[in-house]
Amino acid sequence: MRQKQKKVGLRMEKIIVCGQNPLRGTVRVQGAKNAALPILAACVLVSGVSTIENCPDLSDVRAAVAILKRLGCAVKRSGHTLTVDSRFVSCYTIPNELMREMRSSIVFLGSVLARTGKAVLCAPGGCAIGRRPIDLHLSALRALGAQIEEQNGVLCCRANRLCGAVVALPFPSVGATENALLAAAVANGDTLICGAAKEPEIDDLVLFLNRCGAKITRTERGDLFVRGTPWLHGCRHRVMPDRIAALTVMAAVGAAGGNVMLQDAVPGHLTAALGVFCKAGCLLETGERTLRIAAEGRLNAVPFLQTRPHPGFPTDGQAAVMAMLCTAEGRTAVEETIFENRFHHVAALRQMGARIRVSGRRAEVEGVPCLHGAAVAACDLRAGGALVVAGLGARGTTVIRGVRHIDRGYEKIETCFKTLGAQIERSADSGPEQPQSE
Ligand code: EPU
Repeated sequence: MRQKQKKVGLRMEKIIVCGQNPLRGTVRVQGAKNAALPILAACVLVSGVSTIENCPDLSDVRAAVAILKRLGCAVKRSGHTLTVDSRFVSCYTIPNELMREMRSSIVFLGSVLARTGKAVLCAPGGCAIGRRPIDLHLSALRALGAQIEEQNGVLCCRANRLCGAVVALPFPSVGATENALLAAAVANGDTLICGAAKEPEIDDLVLFLNRCGAKITRTERGDLFVRGTPWLHGCRHRVMPDRIAALTVMAAVGAAGGNVMLQDAVPGHLTAALGVFCKAGCLLETGERTLRIAAEGRLNAVPFLQTRPHPGFPTDGQAAVMAMLCTAEGRTAVEETIFENRFHHVAALRQMGARIRVSGRRAEVEGVPCLHGAAVAACDLRAGGALVVAGLGARGTTVIRGVRHIDRGYEKIETCFKTLGAQIERSADSGPEQPQSE
């Protein structure tokens, strides 16, 4: 308990935003958290040294590095490049406090099991946005030959030799697809992962694994075919750009107005979202790895916005885009189909003057002419991004607490927006943390 208090105390910071300054200029999008994390878990499979470039400096990435070190890997960071020497993986147990730091810790299950034949760990932590079970991860690994028992909340897993199989996912879970891929990459024989997730971060993981010697292809139907190889060697890989960080900047331009060029943004990863920004009245210009967005005056509401697995509109962008549409002209209905409890940002947006009604997984946003600054708290990562977007568009000053959630996924968010002319600062916060959902 004492240790927990100390930890929270260390992270007591707030972000202060003075809104309504149009955003202008050029910004480079950070590397993708949700690609970097499974790639770091994949390093455990490698009998050699992996060099991971464009790895964002985030608290979730630091948590993954702590797990790697615990497992016996040597990890060094130089700027945005991580070097992971996993020649001597010596441990198959991940302590509870490391597992509970983030959701993605569960993806170490597949790689530790495949590398050592055993894994002992508890359920993962992460943002409190719904139940987030791991049944699909476990059934995928069982299909590949793992024996998994749960004793008092601890998963004890064993697999003398993983064997290729058909893994049928009833829902395209991102994490379960990653775990299945990691285990199948070094299994004996061929695996077909049917109903695999199609998120670009999965394809980045496939690219990394193939560079390490794995043999993975996506079939025309979108399934993943894996030809098992006995071992993987190290490689050099550059993490793909973060499509959700790009979306958050775009939503901020929509909310505050302006004209911004995003470099290292892949429009092809954002197709569904680009449609929403166009409908809202933003002007977009796309290049191969660039995206310009311009917005002026009040946007239009988007009649219906539904989150879906890729290539649908991403659940991780829902909060930021909702924040943008709070001041659009008209009514937007938002349906969240991926997580059952991902409207935590609504309470804070209402404090800023938004008119939003929530009923189960649906939210009705009635656009108001303007939001006003308020003292609000981020209670999960994407809710935090949304509050920054809302603050940048609002009249007056917004003080955002719960910054530690934002730091899980956005690298120096205040610096990014300052570069674009926003009035935004981070400062120490001696006040009490606001209530949080985690
Ligand atoms: N699900 C199950 N059983 C499982 C696994 C998932 O029922 O065994 C359900 C979940 O409860 C959820 C849905 O399936 O309702 C989607 O979960 P999924 O497994 O696809 O998500 P995840 O792997 O836990 C990743 C990202 C999330 C992102 C989702 C969906 C990482 C580290 N996390 O989570 O990112 O929202 O995919 O795209 O890659 C974030 O970055 O803020 C974030 C939450």
